[in-house]
Amino acid sequence: MPRLENSLKLLSKGYAWLPDERRRTGRDAVGVRLGGKPAVGIEGPEAARFLYDEDHVRRSHAIPEPVQGTLFGKGAVHTLDGEMHRVRKAMFVALLMREDGIASLVERTTAAWDAAVPEWSRRSEIVLFDEASRVLAGSVARWTGVPVRDEEVPDLARDMVAMVDGFATGGPRHFRARRARGRRERWLQQLVRDVRSGRTRVEEGSAVEVVSQHRDADGAQLPADVAGVELVNIIRPTTAVAWFMAFSGHALIRWPGNRERLASGDPAFAEAWAHEVRRFYPFAPFIGGRSPQRNEFAGEEIPENAMVLLDLYGQNHDPALWDTPYAFRPDRFLDRKIGEWELVPQGGGDPRTNHRCPGEQITVALISALAVRLSRLEWEAPEQDLTIALHRIPARPRSGVRLRVRGGA
Ligand code: HEM
Repeated sequence: MPRLENSLKLLSKGYAWLPDERRRTGRDAVGVRLGGKPAVGIEGPEAARFLYDEDHVRRSHAIPEPVQGTLFGKGAVHTLDGEMHRVRKAMFVALLMREDGIASLVERTTAAWDAAVPEWSRRSEIVLFDEASRVLAGSVARWTGVPVRDEEVPDLARDMVAMVDGFATGGPRHFRARRARGRRERWLQQLVRDVRSGRTRVEEGSAVEVVSQHRDADGAQLPADVAGVELVNIIRPTTAVAWFMAFSGHALIRWPGNRERLASGDPAFAEAWAHEVRRFYPFAPFIGGRSPQRNEFAGEEIPENAMVLLDLYGQNHDPALWDTPYAFRPDRFLDRKIGEWELVPQGGGDPRTNHRCPGEQITVALISALAVRLSRLEWEAPEQDLTIALHRIPARPRSGVRLRVRGGA
């Protein structure tokens, strides 16, 4: 089949691009061109297994510069392969996947949320997305050992949100993201230098300390700029849980029947809520890398150096995996064991050994805890535009979810 240039289709259709191509061609793997280069879009548990095999897909020299310059940073763990990836990833796993560490982050964040509620109820209304991003950014920065004063938190949250918001566009959002990244990398680089020289002391075992002292597979300490990049790679995605809080608000407004059950605090339902919010709503569109050699998937040829993309949004709505995939039904997760290659909003497989997100448990724990609080707050939603445009990557409800908060719970 001839491969057609699809960059414009991707820009105009966003999350719907690959699912539409699969429907249109009737094929499981779609071969296209992106930016003039061959690319293949795949989806499903077998596709996920395929993508995470380093014989099929490599990350180094694969992530486009505009994505590194905004979302991930240069030299980030996302862009490494083999032994270099294994050793850097072990650092993230040790920092982010420990139960006690996750619990202390959740405790800090819920305390910050509770402390913010009285102020929210004094205002005529709040934008849930903005408030959640501040609660999250301040809490995670302090949890990592980065000193921030209360009055610095709103700017920090704005910068972290900007980096995520601007990675998939060429317009003003993109340049805002680059400026935000530059500012925050310089700030954290300096902190790493100060910790290394002994000028600043941080808690032992904190992310700042661990990243500052970490040695890569080659035995060398991380260059200070890369250490700054990796600290941003903890603070930025945790702040991005604000997207899932805005989506939680959207779901509570659209389907209020779930509210009482969520407010009951039943931990199984709160976790099911977090999974359904991550499955149902569009956030990370796809993951990918380049093919180190000629290959084939589902009958589609993958030329050497072609991009291979796993369609995360498409897989999370695949009717072969999810009954009535376009219905928001948290209880689908109550009795279901989730296969490690099935639910892929943050990648698939084993995060300890592959590129799957090491912050997934943190994400689920934060959404569960904060969504229960949101459901218990007394609020009304004024008339507003809650449209979620699928062509905008990353998507979010247009209004940011405006609420009139009447009181805490
Ligand atoms: C990787 C999504 C939260 C840290 C990833 C990947 C995705 C993702 C799709 C790439 C997986 C792959 O390429 O195979 C998300 C979403 C989040 C989230 C949607 C919700 C807001 C977090 C949090 C943290 C985090 C809270 C840290 C506290 C990372 C890191 C990587 C990563 C360090 C790179 C892993 C590697 O390359 O080995 N995430 N993530 N993420 N995420 Fe997350």
